[in-house]
Amino acid sequence: MEKGFILWFTGLSGAGKTTISKIVAEKLEKRGCKVEILDGDIVRENLSKGLTFSKEDRDINIRRIGFVAHLLSRNGVVGITAAISPYKAVRNEIREMYENFIEVYINAPLEVCEQRDVKGLYAKARAGEIQNFTGIDDPYEPPDNPEITCCTDKENLDESVAHVISSLEKLGYLT
Ligand code: ADX
Repeated sequence: MEKGFILWFTGLSGAGKTTISKIVAEKLEKRGCKVEILDGDIVRENLSKGLTFSKEDRDINIRRIGFVAHLLSRNGVVGITAAISPYKAVRNEIREMYENFIEVYINAPLEVCEQRDVKGLYAKARAGEIQNFTGIDDPYEPPDNPEITCCTDKENLDESVAHVISSLEKLGYLT
């Protein structure tokens, strides 16, 4: 059996966190790992229902996700998280607090994410229909030293997934 760890995806809305994390989860399961995904949108409908997108509430959301990912990882499960997690300080807090934390920066320029606008939220944010939208009128602080970076404007999905898996092998989390 493989050991548990926290695979922490961070990046703008539309950068590819959910898409990449789902395929990475499938690959890990095929290799015998137990995996659970804590996706931002799904967590906000359940564990974090009612929270806003203020800095305070985002930090609460991230601490909750970190705590659950920790419970999973210490029981041999790979806890994959896919929330924007825009603030560096709270991401680093999770890193310091829990073992086996691997940060995966899903890096795509704002222009590219906005162009994709999968959920139509960038258009709404530009039109002033949504406030505090990450990248538009709310900050995103990229990680300084992520263990893994995927540039989804330059790589295709297969390449990003392969990069995550091979990085986990190099880091010693997969045999
Ligand atoms: S986080 O900042 O607390 O990590 P989280 O990943 O849970 O964010 O939720 C982000 C998702 O909520 C986005 O993918 C988007 O679908 C939706 N959303 C709605 N309003 C906002 C907003 N103001 N900023 C960012 N995302 C928003």
